[in-house]
Amino acid sequence: MRNRLITLVLCTTLIFCGCSSTEEIVDTNESKIVQQTAETFDSSEIDTIGISMPAAQLERWTNDAELLQSMFEEEGYNVLVSYGDNLIDTQINDINQMIDDGADLLIIAPVDSDSLGPCIKRANENNIPVVAYDRLINHAPTLLAYVSYDNYYIGKLQALYIVDAFDLNNTSNSEPINIEIFAGDSADNNALCFFNAAYEVLSPYVETGKINIISNQKSFYACSIPSWDTDLAKQKMEILLASYYTDNQQLDAVLCANDSIAHGVCDAIDSSYKLDNKIIITGQDGDKVNLQYIKEGKQSMSIYKNLNNEALATVYIVNSFLNGVSTGDDLSAGNDFDFKIRRDTISYVSDNVAITSYLLSPKTITIDNVDDFIIDE
Ligand code: BGC
Repeated sequence: MRNRLITLVLCTTLIFCGCSSTEEIVDTNESKIVQQTAETFDSSEIDTIGISMPAAQLERWTNDAELLQSMFEEEGYNVLVSYGDNLIDTQINDINQMIDDGADLLIIAPVDSDSLGPCIKRANENNIPVVAYDRLINHAPTLLAYVSYDNYYIGKLQALYIVDAFDLNNTSNSEPINIEIFAGDSADNNALCFFNAAYEVLSPYVETGKINIISNQKSFYACSIPSWDTDLAKQKMEILLASYYTDNQQLDAVLCANDSIAHGVCDAIDSSYKLDNKIIITGQDGDKVNLQYIKEGKQSMSIYKNLNNEALATVYIVNSFLNGVSTGDDLSAGNDFDFKIRRDTISYVSDNVAITSYLLSPKTITIDNVDDFIIDE
């Protein structure tokens, strides 16, 4: 590993912990921005990029890895790729192996947002900068950058879809709707962002009685599905149906944090729900099965996150860093990007340090535009 110097510029600012909309910043008076720059960082010294993804079992991560690999290879880098099998130890071993195998820069989407601090420290001690990809890494204040979609906005879009579908702002309390909530894996920082944002939208309606959560499962941990697993989501939905939705009790909507969960929920409803009302089901990712479910009317919406753009932005940010070029606040400006991406130095915090984040904007998929997202193979 060749010697390089990463310059840290420290300055104090006001920060919100976790993820938030920028309008809702809480002043902790304690956090700081660590802006990593590359004044003496020679891009010619970076040969090998290590990419560590959480699992090959979930459709999106293999797509992400393939896109990142081909784009970085096109730029002339060697690329190492590993998948954590949704297991923390496997991912830690993979990352350590990539450090030993000569990775010069790491792109990591963690299985568990809380467990990689020591790995990042070891990477940095070996002069290897780390970019958190899609999922934030906690306890890693020296992250070079975080590239993701606007997770807060995604949770909001999912919840607002339910509010609009039932026109809750115009209906009276005499017609409450019954919903259930399925959140993502509690080890994933994104899952908490999606849940908090969605619940913030839904809670006023819960408080005024326009929304009932019959199972009373409304805390993040009660709603969380380990590993975002389709079978576990299906089993849980079957249990909820058998426990609370017998005797003609109607279910109106299920807020599902992503498509692998929505897949299980739709299948459980298909096989075990007795009434024939349409149930609104949300999702995220635009996975193949779910696009089909939207077309068939089983699932109502998904959130599309263009992975090509997320990878493109990552490569651009890495190259900018290595060339010592500042990205500016609006990366779309002056670039060839035909998508929106903004720099955020407030919302994502790791160990009390705001990580420079680059956030893309997602799109909503419904029956009206689903055909635009189905690719013929
Ligand atoms: C990602 C989602 C994905 C989920 C499960 C989240 O961190 O943002 O796109 O569906 O993980 O893999």
